[in-house]
Amino acid sequence: MDQKKKAARYGRIYNQIADLLKKSNNHLAHKATLIAVLHHKMEYFFWTGFYTLTEGQLTVEMYQGPLACQVLAKNKGVCWAAINQGKTLIVKNAEAFPGHIACDSRSKSEIVIPLRNSSGEITGVLDVDSKEPASFDETDAEWLEKITGLLAESNGFRQ
Ligand code: SME
Repeated sequence: MDQKKKAARYGRIYNQIADLLKKSNNHLAHKATLIAVLHHKMEYFFWTGFYTLTEGQLTVEMYQGPLACQVLAKNKGVCWAAINQGKTLIVKNAEAFPGHIACDSRSKSEIVIPLRNSSGEITGVLDVDSKEPASFDETDAEWLEKITGLLAESNGFRQ
């Protein structure tokens, strides 16, 4: 998607999600709403969901898209790499990423954004896959960080 169009689309989505999150104080409802809006408004989002880090295990939470792995093998793949490096990872070619976990072989590129609690500890990730290579760039990283930051603002979490 063209950069200008992408940034404008994210701007509208950000405002829509910010408004929707005012409708309840329920953290899981907020996460489900965020996933639904992103997945249905961004046509290149093939799989969109959260993995949560609990007792050292990364387990899938709510998502939209094809069936996903429920538990990700520790310290392997893109989600664990984003957690271990403590930063957003953009993977242009999923197959070339060392240890990439292919829950669905149609996924060709990926972006992973760590989520943090108010103490700065990573509590999970937002993971998005695309069927096309190189779908994600700095514009996606910037806006997805801002959008997941909305969860932080509404729940005492922070990005
Ligand atoms: N590809 C991810 C696994 C999760 S799926 O993309 C839904 C990884 O390598 O961590």
